[in-house]
Amino acid sequence: MIVYFSRRGQNLYRGPQPYLNVGNTELIAKAVVNRFPQPVLAEIVPVHPYPNDYQEALAVAKQELADRTLPAIKPLTADIAGSQHIILAFPKWWNHLPRPVVTFMKQFQWQNKTIYPVCTHEENRFGDILNELAELAQGSTIERGLAIRGVCASDADRAVENWLNNYDQDAAEQPLGMTAYWQTQPGK
Ligand SMILES: Cc1cc2nc3c(=O)[nH]c(=O)nc-3n(C[C@H](O)[C@H](O)[C@H](O)COP(=O)(O)O)c2cc1C
Repeated sequence: MIVYFSRRGQNLYRGPQPYLNVGNTELIAKAVVNRFPQPVLAEIVPVHPYPNDYQEALAVAKQELADRTLPAIKPLTADIAGSQHIILAFPKWWNHLPRPVVTFMKQFQWQNKTIYPVCTHEENRFGDILNELAELAQGSTIERGLAIRGVCASDADRAVENWLNNYDQDAAEQPLGMTAYWQTQPGK
């Protein structure tokens, strides 16, 4: 299962800031999930959307970070509590997790779950985010992540493929193949 947060609107894309109907992280989340036979995709949607204007979104996010806001999010459509393996995809915001992702993390128990982080960013990959994630998801295992520059999001097929293939090779030595690895297990 993959859970993602992504902002639609004016964005960085090859220099200028066009309006994008699909955010960078959403592109990556879909590229990842489409490689699974039973794709399960759930979006973290804030109740109050962020501004379309890039500069305004920067300002709102900066203030939320300073205030440690926990913005309300809509109920998720997938069974998070019942899933042991979760791919979590997000953009880097001011070197941190976007605050709606923090809201999401605080809504669930993470003991014994495995998280595969996927981050889109413009520089310095995960930055401090892996520490932040470990703090929020105590008792979980955080596996090797995938970091992709947002401006390359529409061109990231090979990076996604390599990342997933690595897990597949690891999994070959274990009882679970990649397919079983990632699927949700409703009711368990
Ligand atoms: C509010 C905001 C804050 C950002 N902060 C950073 C940052 O600290 N470091 C960075 O490399 N990129 C930063 N970016 C760029 C985004 O991480 C990058 O464009 C990402 O791919 C956006 O993903 P999305 O389209 O799915 O929202 C920021 C973008 C926004 C809108």
